[in-house]
Amino acid sequence: MGNYSTSLLTVLLTLTGIGIFAGDTQHTIAVIGTGYVGLVTGTCFAHLGNNVICVDIDQQKINDLKKGIVGMYEPELKELIYAYYEKNLWFTTDTAEAISKADLVFIAVDTPMSDDGTAYMGYLQSALTSISKSIRKKVVICIKSTVPIGTTAYAQQLLKDSGVDSDLFDVAMNPEFLREGTAVYDFLHPDRIVIGSYSQHAADTLQKVYQPLIDKEIPCIVVDPETAETIKYASNSLLAIKISFINEIANLCEKTGACICSVAHAMGLDKRIGPYCLKHGPGFGGSCFPKDCSALLHIANTYGVTLNTLGGCMKTNEQQRLVPIKKLLSHIPDLRNKTIAVLGLAFKAGTNDIRNSCALTAIEQLRIHGAHVKAYDPVAIEPMKKIFPDIEYGTSIASTLADCDAALILTEWQEFKEVEMLAIERIMKHPLFIDACNILDEKTCCSLRAVVIDKIGKKSC
Ligand code: UGA
Repeated sequence: MGNYSTSLLTVLLTLTGIGIFAGDTQHTIAVIGTGYVGLVTGTCFAHLGNNVICVDIDQQKINDLKKGIVGMYEPELKELIYAYYEKNLWFTTDTAEAISKADLVFIAVDTPMSDDGTAYMGYLQSALTSISKSIRKKVVICIKSTVPIGTTAYAQQLLKDSGVDSDLFDVAMNPEFLREGTAVYDFLHPDRIVIGSYSQHAADTLQKVYQPLIDKEIPCIVVDPETAETIKYASNSLLAIKISFINEIANLCEKTGACICSVAHAMGLDKRIGPYCLKHGPGFGGSCFPKDCSALLHIANTYGVTLNTLGGCMKTNEQQRLVPIKKLLSHIPDLRNKTIAVLGLAFKAGTNDIRNSCALTAIEQLRIHGAHVKAYDPVAIEPMKKIFPDIEYGTSIASTLADCDAALILTEWQEFKEVEMLAIERIMKHPLFIDACNILDEKTCCSLRAVVIDKIGKKSC
């Protein structure tokens, strides 16, 4: 690992658009948790010139990272890890050693959804417990994980109650706004940096570590921790609300004959609305929007506040995830003995993450209706095999579609856009596409009489 030539390294780093900072070391940072947030955060802070030690309790993951095996599919991440590993980026399972060296610690562990819809805090608690046992010199502890409002204050209390001298630590919250699939780019080109802390020292330390980005005129907002925690939940919730709204308008367009793409495009040109999260589809998924919307609803509930718009957004999303199946059933009412292709298993294009993906709902429904499922994704087949080991998986679009009665397109992968319709017409038993992402080229599709395309938010052809 780390054998890249200087010229290749320069090319790779130019991709990030932020230049090479290594050598201008500012801080020693420990990052607890090497999921996509922790690993991207640690690697990008190494890129900004810091010494970074990434920690995980999963020995296998750390062994893999040391060998250059990066479990997740995240553009540019592997190249940056290769560039900095063992220069100013290290991986370990030893929390105590990492904390003893660091002056800044980011906690980036998962806060997944519990069965009751609240955020599960067990990983954060154990991270705090192991940190508390390892603090020997002054350190800033910064929470990156998305956490319920009040957690940063709770973390401060927990460390104190564990007997850590309060002069030795300050606590802060610094939410992340990284999209999977563009996380490295998003880290290095954020719309804003949010720092929440009651400690001036913690806020100053964090501002310093983000200085290369602040120098590029990225706004840095320093607030109290409760405000920072709320900014994160409210941001994800509003983006999810936008998606549910445009999905409802798409469903209306289908009835009225309007074109959702033009509607969304024109709406997005209004600066007060903006173009982002206005793409209709089979509902939002992933590890963030569903859990964060649910957590914020629960948090508001505990304060006796009703978030009607957010509740409606989640209900709409549940219904939207069933739209592809409903459409399929409207064409083929009895799915028994039918073979249905599911194209797109990742929760969105650009990642191999299948958490809360629409394909999970679709495959489950197809099996309930007695269909034989053939699934395909350019990068997410292996994780799906762990959940559905007994369905059939294709090795290419063509092999998946062969002899199918219909296909559902659930993820907006580029290669699905390039489907060769003329060839498809010949290999499928019945060339029926439920194009939930609206990616098949309409002109080509409509010119082929045998192919039926049913899109969300548009008239079928
Ligand atoms: C989301 C936020 O966008 C990040 O800012 C945030 O940091 C992250 O959650 C997090 O909390 O960690 P991510 O889950 O990676 O990032 O994915 P998005 O690109 O936001 O998409 C989420 C879901 O919404 C996907 O299922 C996607 O297909 C869907 N979506 C997105 C739409 O249906 N329409 C859109 O216009 C945009």
